[in-house]
Amino acid sequence: MVELFDTHCHLSDTDFDQDRSAVLARMAEMGVTRCAVIGYDLSSSETALRFAQETDGVCCAVGVHPEHADTLTPDVLDALRKLAAFPEVRAIGEIGMDLHWDTNPSAEVQKKACIEQMELAYALSLPVSFHIRDAHMDMITLLKEHKSILSGGIMHCFSGSWEIAREYLKLGFYISFAGPVTFKKAPKLQEAARNVPLERLLIETDSPYMAPEPVRGRRNEPGNVRYIAEKIAELRGMPFEELAERTTQNARNLFAF
Ligand code: NI
Repeated sequence: MVELFDTHCHLSDTDFDQDRSAVLARMAEMGVTRCAVIGYDLSSSETALRFAQETDGVCCAVGVHPEHADTLTPDVLDALRKLAAFPEVRAIGEIGMDLHWDTNPSAEVQKKACIEQMELAYALSLPVSFHIRDAHMDMITLLKEHKSILSGGIMHCFSGSWEIAREYLKLGFYISFAGPVTFKKAPKLQEAARNVPLERLLIETDSPYMAPEPVRGRRNEPGNVRYIAEKIAELRGMPFEELAERTTQNARNLFAF
């Protein structure tokens, strides 16, 4: 039986409150046996942990997203540290840099929050789930400057070119592809998905966002990670079953789950 692992979703968000059990049932039908639910601020991190504690096949990450970087006070950092002591927490995230919106906290505030949470991940020997948008050059520089505290992890919903992916691979990270890799007009992303070594490749939905073809435009859900696996297998000219097995093994190794 095929087993898939959705390495980044937000299944504990209120978007799923009305029909979460149906979403979980469809996930099982699609062969998605595991997922990682990712926090983006203190409250969503607490919810993600509670959901992981209650649900088979679900682990979680806790962290403050770059869009909320200005909320990472010492108290919040301390609260994240306490949450991360629970065994269901298998990563710190999502953290990183996002310079897409002018309304986001400044690059300096984002960098500070990112580094503080990378230090937390390093201290706890946990991998990191990175969210990086319109900030690849800043992030590559930051990572190179902090090589001594890198604890591995994922470039989630990767949005760069193969050249950029290579920089992250050199730093030891996994590259995770979401819905956009299935879109028709995504030649650069698809080139990256063809070239990332199989042992560093991951898949995810980022649900409820980023729905892949053929369900693009709808609310996304973890079961749809199957479409992403099918597309990447097609791009690489390899059997779907093999891609499923390898990406699941990668995710299980990374999250120890
Ligand atoms: Ni996310």
